[in-house]
Amino acid sequence: MAQKRTPLRVVVTGASTGIGLGIALEFLRQGDRVFLSSRSVHKLRHRDAEISEHLQQGNAFLHPADLSKEDDVRSLMRAAAEQLGGLDVLVNNAGIYEGASLEQITASHWNRIMALNLDSYLWACQEASEPLKASQGAIINISSDAALRPSAAHIAYSVSKAAIDMLTRNVARELAPHGVRVNSVQPGFTETPILQAGGMSAAEAQVCFANAATDNPMGRIARVSDITPLVLFLADASKSGYITGQCITIDGGQRSFATR
Ligand SMILES: NC(=O)c1ccc[n+]([C@@H]2O[C@H](COP(=O)([O-])OP(=O)(O)OC[C@H]3O[C@@H](n4cnc5c(N)ncnc54)[C@H](OP(=O)(O)O)[C@@H]3O)[C@@H](O)[C@H]2O)c1
Repeated sequence: MAQKRTPLRVVVTGASTGIGLGIALEFLRQGDRVFLSSRSVHKLRHRDAEISEHLQQGNAFLHPADLSKEDDVRSLMRAAAEQLGGLDVLVNNAGIYEGASLEQITASHWNRIMALNLDSYLWACQEASEPLKASQGAIINISSDAALRPSAAHIAYSVSKAAIDMLTRNVARELAPHGVRVNSVQPGFTETPILQAGGMSAAEAQVCFANAATDNPMGRIARVSDITPLVLFLADASKSGYITGQCITIDGGQRSFATR
């Protein structure tokens, strides 16, 4: 009989919707214990029947926080390590996709994007490093294919994602001797509420996703379920134990081919 593996102790940021919620649910489904965080994550208790079941079973923990604030990131990571009794996996995922061109960009826009999309990843990595050294765990940073090419009128977003990939390689280099693996995942357009969260109307978001689907060699954009297996694979040392410092694109081939 196959031996049951020890449940992983996991933190997922930006876990109230979209890719983060999908990742958190997949860990919970495989029997892991998951700390979910975002500003509105506490609402999941009433909104998501599956999460509320895991809360009752004591496997899920909801931690509301504004992760654009350094203190909130540090408090989250400390609370998670304390309540989970250590840490095996950190998934840095919280992000916003707000646009501004060179002409439009202001310091407050730049700082808002960087504080969440980049700084929160750094502070979470720093807080996680000691508990992860103890468990020989893993960090997965959710980047974007926007790290690989300029994104129209989204300078701060693209730069934040390119910086996440370099952060990933640097932290991977530092933590490799301690047995901690650090990788990033670069999704292409994925069906989530991200465009509306960034200020688009529902109709504008639909047009944007439809155009991206037309442009994609596979004829569609990603579903959250296309992204989550890669994250779970990178978290599992028995499958990906010699993979670190990698930034892996998952975009249906979009960046590999010229558009049709
Ligand atoms: N969807 C795509 O096409 C796509 C493509 C490439 C990369 N990505 C990346 O994937 C990640 C997840 O995006 P998604 O598409 O799943 O977007 P989403 O559905 O809008 O989710 C974003 C998450 O971040 C949280 N968040 C936003 N501001 C926050 C703050 N100040 N503090 C804490 N949490 C905050 C949101 O929760 P609250 O509002 O409750 O705080 C939400 O849980 C992001 O890093 C994004 O850049 C997405």
